Amino acid sequence: MTLKTKPFSEQVALVTGGGTGIGRAFAEALTAAGARVFIASRRRDALETAAAEINERVGSERVFTYAFDVRERGQCEALVGHVTERFGSLDVLVNNSGLAVPETVEEITEEGWETVLTTNLKGAMWLVRAALPGMAAREFGDIVNVSSQAGKHGYADVPSYCASKWGLLGFAESVRDHVRKTGANVRVFNFCPGLVDVEHTGADAEPRPGFVHVSNMAKTLMYALSLDRNVVLEDINIYAR
Ligand SMILES: NC(=O)c1ccc[n+]([C@@H]2O[C@H](COP(=O)([O-])OP(=O)(O)OC[C@H]3O[C@@H](n4cnc5c(N)ncnc54)[C@H](OP(=O)(O)O)[C@@H]3O)[C@@H](O)[C@H]2O)c1
Repeated sequence: MTLKTKPFSEQVALVTGGGTGIGRAFAEALTAAGARVFIASRRRDALETAAAEINERVGSERVFTYAFDVRERGQCEALVGHVTERFGSLDVLVNNSGLAVPETVEEITEEGWETVLTTNLKGAMWLVRAALPGMAAREFGDIVNVSSQAGKHGYADVPSYCASKWGLLGFAESVRDHVRKTGANVRVFNFCPGLVDVEHTGADAEPRPGFVHVSNMAKTLMYALSLDRNVVLEDINIYAR
């Protein structure tokens, strides 16, 4: 069976947390490849600044902004609806929004646990829940989840973060099984980065010891997306030696 393909120039991507750090590097790479990219998070000013800078670099309006809170189901659904109404499709969903609340297991609070689990796990689930039917119907889509090495190993200072990132991998595995069983032309990629330097991001900047330069995340994303549609690429473990 031949699976549908689409050049990046015809693809529409949504990168949550795309105004900063890893998400911004993803948005830059997707835009450079020709895609139209929505970046979405809470801080409108960070989104606008990033979009203006990227658009200036590529010389056309290819990055678009949307302010939303991934913890709210209704806002996740409205975001997916907005993107698909504006451009007719949502081809690449990047679940990148995330945060940590450092609380050891003896310090965990209801608020800290809820904030981390809802932002990193439940929000990604609502976005996939909203985006997947359209991807299946249009017979094309990619879902990219930014988990962490903290989704593979437990760390005493961030148990809620570890639980959320392990949970994200488990959810992603279920989505992968679902698209395999339903025959949907949708791939699922999981990033499990170690430390990524999101402060020294210039092309020539030296990452801090123990960190990888954020450009390696972007290069790896574009490599993963370039693979044949029938390829399953298991979790991408990427970290500095
Ligand atoms: N940097 C690392 O070493 C590293 C390693 C492993 C995994 N990660 C993961 O990589 C992802 C990106 O992190 P980063 O390092 O690039 O840090 P970052 O710059 O702080 O990015 C996190 C993004 O998440 C967004 N966000 C947070 N809460 C949100 C909410 N309620 N609704 C919508 N968006 C929200 C933030 O935007 P707003 O504040 O505007 O909402 C921000 O753009 C995260 O999932 C993180 O866990 C990072």
